[in-house]
Amino acid sequence: MILYFSATGNSQYVAQRIAEQTGEEVLSVVDCVREERYSFADNRIGIISPTYNWGLPSVARDFFQKAKPDTDYLYFVATYGTTPGGSGYFAQKYLGKPISAFYSVRMPDTWTVLFDLSTPEAVAKFTKTTENEIDAIISHITSKDKGQFMRRKTPAFMAKMLYATYDAARATSHLSADDSCIGCGLCAEKCPVQAIEMTQNRPVWVKDKCAMCLGCLHRCPPFAIRYDDGKKTRAHGQYINPNMLN
Ligand SMILES: Cc1cc2nc3c(=O)[nH]c(=O)nc-3n(C[C@H](O)[C@H](O)[C@H](O)COP(=O)(O)O)c2cc1C
Ligand code: SF4
Ligand code: SF4
Repeated sequence: MILYFSATGNSQYVAQRIAEQTGEEVLSVVDCVREERYSFADNRIGIISPTYNWGLPSVARDFFQKAKPDTDYLYFVATYGTTPGGSGYFAQKYLGKPISAFYSVRMPDTWTVLFDLSTPEAVAKFTKTTENEIDAIISHITSKDKGQFMRRKTPAFMAKMLYATYDAARATSHLSADDSCIGCGLCAEKCPVQAIEMTQNRPVWVKDKCAMCLGCLHRCPPFAIRYDDGKKTRAHGQYINPNMLN
């Protein structure tokens, strides 16, 4: 069984690639939360999440604190663009049980407040090792190898300090939509934490904080959503993993 959270498709793609080889069931964390499903049993359980601010998205963090995976092989995969930080450390801490193996896969960095994904060439800079890393994970989990296989991770004491930046970064006051908004409602429909409501055909952020997954910004058809003044996010483009299923 594979459980994943994915805003822009990278982590979902890793889940699908592993499932293609292992034939395992794939479950979305957002669906599990909606169905209030927190108990899982299988002879192997994988959990896949993006890295946010050297730690975990609030959606994954809240889910891990409630989840009860029953298995003799529990593994964690972080997708990331620059460093998986201390995401493995936090996953084990929030799950409250030992993780058998830790893995990472480098993929395009969707934090376009900083990183440029505006051209195929810019995206390709992040994907040079992606397929080999996924293949290696499939080989390891098939043999139920145990240990630390994450690359580029950050020591836990540093990650704890750096992850503290997430709380301020995820204030919804950073997000707004400009006049190119066509009122399609896609941002509200897809938000994993129901932070957006449509009022008079325009998005209104109704929570003080969200997961800051940037799914709304990357998915918006006219690219109307921006972070802060939008200068950087506008220049750095929109990105959804080309294999994303929904
Ligand atoms: C709010 C936010 C914070 C992020 N922080 C990090 C980070 O600390 N390190 C990193 O390497 N990538 C970071 N990323 C990039 C994502 O971890 C990466 O692009 C991931 O593959 C996205 O997964 P998804 O497409 O499944 O949502 C961040 C992305 C977002 C939206
Ligand atoms: S997805 Fe974009 S265009 Fe559609 S309602 Fe949201 S902001 Fe407006
Ligand atoms: S409001 Fe946008 S950035 Fe925040 S959680 Fe919802 S989709 Fe993600």
